[in-house]
Amino acid sequence: MKLIRAKDYADVSVKAGNIIASVVTLKPDCVLGLATGSSPVGTYKELIKKYEAGELDFSQVKTVNLDEYVGLSKDHDQSYAYFMRNNLFDHVNIDQANCNIPSGLTDDPEAECGNYDKLIGQLHTDLQLLGMGPNGHIGFNEPDEVFIPGTHCVKLAESTIDANQRFFASRDDVPRQAYTMGIWGIMQAKKVLMVVNGKNKAQAVKAMFTGPIDPKVPASILQLHPDCTIVADEEALSLLDL
Ligand code: GLP
Repeated sequence: MKLIRAKDYADVSVKAGNIIASVVTLKPDCVLGLATGSSPVGTYKELIKKYEAGELDFSQVKTVNLDEYVGLSKDHDQSYAYFMRNNLFDHVNIDQANCNIPSGLTDDPEAECGNYDKLIGQLHTDLQLLGMGPNGHIGFNEPDEVFIPGTHCVKLAESTIDANQRFFASRDDVPRQAYTMGIWGIMQAKKVLMVVNGKNKAQAVKAMFTGPIDPKVPASILQLHPDCTIVADEEALSLLDL
């Protein structure tokens, strides 16, 4: 794993934005794997700035998102489909017909997950952007006894419900389940880019870098990826002695 040290969240966002911009510039019809949560919001703002400055063209870009809450429609203001429109897609010249996110309202989860994996296999992601949960989760791959390769429905960890309740009116409103791309879906990307900031991620960052590859710390699997870059700020790196 390659580590890029950033000063703070703003610096993480600029550096990650530059990396993604270089992929889009080199390959205008690239496939971007995209993430939600607060970590990538600044990165998306940087991409929007570059688009507005005429430096980036998203017209041929395709995207495939990591995850979606079970039970939320794409118009629910806490759905990840809504998040992506609000934080990126509505602000750049991307064709939203080329933007893929699992449906939170499917009545056939098995088919939805199987089809999503077929799509990932066909697209072959050029760069997968990731955040990381405080417990080391990536996408919604929660700590578990095994790494689950394919897209699947997951029961969210209590700590994830706690962490994500800030986006909802109350804890009770946080969905208890989500569909997430599995570990294969993430690892098949040609490049992986993680953005991570803040003290509450420091323990997970340390475990991801220095611990064993362990499904109890899902992000530790990234040690096996041939082209994985972590852009982290000083607080997130505060427990790492590298
Ligand atoms: C959610 C998302 C993850 C994200 C995580 C961290 O659980 N499913 O993809 O990495 O939140 O969120 P934040 O960046 O807000 O700390």
